[in-house]
Amino acid sequence: MVILVTGANRGLGIELVKEGLKRGHTVIATYRNPGDDLPRLKEEYQDRLVMQVMDVEDFASISSAYDSLCGKFNAIDGVVNNAAVLYETKAFKGDPIVDMDLDMFHKTFEINIHGPVMVLKKFMPLIYKGSDRCIVNISTEGAKLKTEGSHYIAYSASKIALNLYTQKIRNYLSAREDTKDIRVYMIHPGRMFTVMGVENAQIQPGEPAFGIWDIIEKKKKIDLDIPFINYKAEQMPL
Ligand SMILES: NC(=O)c1ccc[n+]([C@@H]2O[C@H](COP(=O)([O-])OP(=O)(O)OC[C@H]3O[C@@H](n4cnc5c(N)ncnc54)[C@H](OP(=O)(O)O)[C@@H]3O)[C@@H](O)[C@H]2O)c1
Repeated sequence: MVILVTGANRGLGIELVKEGLKRGHTVIATYRNPGDDLPRLKEEYQDRLVMQVMDVEDFASISSAYDSLCGKFNAIDGVVNNAAVLYETKAFKGDPIVDMDLDMFHKTFEINIHGPVMVLKKFMPLIYKGSDRCIVNISTEGAKLKTEGSHYIAYSASKIALNLYTQKIRNYLSAREDTKDIRVYMIHPGRMFTVMGVENAQIQPGEPAFGIWDIIEKKKKIDLDIPFINYKAEQMPL
C-alpha cells in the first residue's frame, strides 16, 4: 500500500512511518521539519520512504506537496491525518470562558480540523484512484460530549469537529457504489509518551502505531456505523 502520514517527524507519526516501512509498504512522510529519524530511515528504506515538506495549516504548502507528489504517484491508498497540536495544559487555572486565548483557539482549529479537511481536499483525488483505500483521522478520547472537567477545551472541540467531519465524509463515501469500499476511521491512539501526551502518558507510541497498521491492513474486523475506535479497533464512547 501507499499511505501518506502527516506530522510524520516525531511522536505517533514517526512510529507509523517505521511500522509501515517494516511491513513492506510505501510511506509518504510529510513534515515541517524532518528531525533526525526520517533522514536515517530514508537511507535504510530508499524509495519506499518518500519525504515531503507539508505544513497542514497552510493550503499553499499542501498544494505544493500535492503537486510534487503527483509527479511520483498516480494514486495512493490512504491518508493518516495525524498532525495536531495541544496548546492547553491541565495546570491552567483561569476562567476557560472569559480567559480563553482566542489566538490559541483559532490556531488549534486551523491545525486539528482545517488541516485534515485541506489535506483531504487536495489528496482525495489520488485516493479515489487507489486500490485498497482508507482514511484514518487521528482523534482522541476527549472527542465526545459526555465529558468531565473543563481542560483542553480548544483541543477537544477541534477533535469533536474532526470526528463529525469524518462521519459526514464516511456517510458520503459509503452511499456511493464506486467509493463504498473506502474505509474511514477516527482513531483514539491511547495516552502516549510523546511531546503532546506528556501530562497523561501510559503507553509508548509504537503500540498504537502497530494497532493502526493492523486496522489499515484489514487485520481487524470493524463493522460499525460510527467508526470512532481505539487503536485496538474497539468502539470508543460517543
Ligand atoms: N499523545 C497522546 O497521548 C494523544 C492522545 C490522544 C490523541 N493523540 C493524537 O495523536 C496524534 C499524534 O500526537 P502525538 O502525541 O504524536 O503529538 P506530538 O508528539 O506533539 O507530535 C505532533 C506532530 O504534529 C506535527 N504538527 C503540528 N502542527 C503541524 C502543522 N501545522 N503541519 C504539519 N505538522 C504539524 C508536529 O510537527 P512539528 O515537529 O513540526 O511540530 C508533530 O510531528 C495527534 O493527532 C494527537 O491529537 C495523542
